[in-house]
Amino acid sequence: MQQVDFTTELKDKAVLTDRVLEQVLADQTGIPSRLKEAMRYMLFSPGKKVRSAMVLWCCEIVSGQVNPAALIGAAAIEMVHTYSLIHDDLPAMDDDDLRRGQPSCHKQFDEATAILAGDGLLTLAFEILSTQVEDSCAALRMVRTLSHAAGPSGMVAGQMDDLSAENETGTMDLLRQIHMNKTARMFAAAAGLGAIAGHASEAQLEAVLEYGLKMGLCFQVADDILDVTVESAQLGKTAGKDEQQGKLTYPALVGLDESQRIAEELTIEAVDALRIFGPEADILRQLAQRLLHRNK
Ligand code: IPE
Ligand code: IPE
Ligand code: MG
Ligand code: MG
Ligand code: MG
Repeated sequence: MQQVDFTTELKDKAVLTDRVLEQVLADQTGIPSRLKEAMRYMLFSPGKKVRSAMVLWCCEIVSGQVNPAALIGAAAIEMVHTYSLIHDDLPAMDDDDLRRGQPSCHKQFDEATAILAGDGLLTLAFEILSTQVEDSCAALRMVRTLSHAAGPSGMVAGQMDDLSAENETGTMDLLRQIHMNKTARMFAAAAGLGAIAGHASEAQLEAVLEYGLKMGLCFQVADDILDVTVESAQLGKTAGKDEQQGKLTYPALVGLDESQRIAEELTIEAVDALRIFGPEADILRQLAQRLLHRNK
């Protein structure tokens, strides 16, 4: 496998995404200052920016370069992801005071501002996709991809079922469905946005979507594992929260060792989905390994 300096690559992609996010906010006149402050607070807090990097990498893999449509896609998915975290932390949901090593949005501001900051990020994501992606056919496909993944039969469905499953006896099927919806669908959307922006062939699109789904499933299993194995200071969010709240998680259902084995299996499946690509997809292969072994 070709050795790319993964950390530098990821950082470079985060810089590109941040630049677009800055521009998007600068272009929006009329956002009340407190609302803008809350949106900025979360958007530019130290997240890993994995989904936006996936958008840019998938575009590069299918077309040889990052293009303006992919940059808008990267900003859009980061905005939707950030909204999902702001709402996930609210007292009515996971009630978490710590996010990315800082007070979560409703703690730093207040609940109403946090709800509205989330609303603002979610809607603005679709505004930029529909107005700033020049090729209107690609724009429409990107809007469809992200809205379907994030909406009431996607991420929002996963969040609903995640909350309903608290303190209930859940099954493996239910847990897998929750992870598929709340997390994996957004990863697949990230891959899809990049592929569409890069005018991928059907076969290329299908391959990266499959990679994204498997990566997302693995990512959430690893997230569940980290919740029980890593301290809050390292994690940047409150450790041990899942057990405290009676969440249905892999460690709770099958134990840590089996969870780790499942995460490793999903990583293999994710990498396998890339078999139609050559070394140009090595960065995605590395991403799969990095996310499996991450410590936050
Ligand atoms: C957290 O996602 C929510 C999950 C799906 C587990 P990330 O771990 O990507 O969060 P940030 O963006 O790096 O903070
Ligand atoms: C949330 O899963 C996934 C989202 C859609 C935001 P978690 O509730 O496990 O995410 P963390 O652990 O709070 O980041
Ligand atoms: Mg949650
Ligand atoms: Mg949570
Ligand atoms: Mg979690």
